[in-house]
Amino acid sequence: MKNVYIGCDHAALEMKNMLIGHVNSLGYSVTDVGTYTSDSVDYPVYAKKVALAVREDEGSLGILICGTGIGMSIAANKVKGIRAAAVSEVYSAKMTRLHNDANIVCLGARVIGPETAKMIVEAFLSTEYEGGRHQRRVDMISEMEGI
Ligand code: RB5
Repeated sequence: MKNVYIGCDHAALEMKNMLIGHVNSLGYSVTDVGTYTSDSVDYPVYAKKVALAVREDEGSLGILICGTGIGMSIAANKVKGIRAAAVSEVYSAKMTRLHNDANIVCLGARVIGPETAKMIVEAFLSTEYEGGRHQRRVDMISEMEGI
């Protein structure tokens, strides 16, 4: 089973806590990097924590949640080796694993409801990268890192 790293800002504390229970119930080991209270925090801090953890732990996946999922994805994608996808529905959650080899999924706690979030996370974690013709494109993305 993959290791999963999860982080959020103050806008998404409730959704993060709910998702930790769900991901645990699916049999994954989950590491929660915070935030742990509803005090206002800066989402890039948590994006960086999850991105570095995912990069260090080969084969692991990450979940980042803020108000929209967008700030987290922009921040996490600055870290070399990270492909973070902001997703609001299940089809894209699956496709970004299959085609983009995304290693972090970003969710908007003010955009989607808890049941959609659970389904997205389940699809993201259980779908494997297809490789093949997609590898050349993923390699092209890697080559752009640090431009
Ligand atoms: C916090 O108010 C909000 O800006 C943050 O959660 C996120 O939506 C940023 O992208």
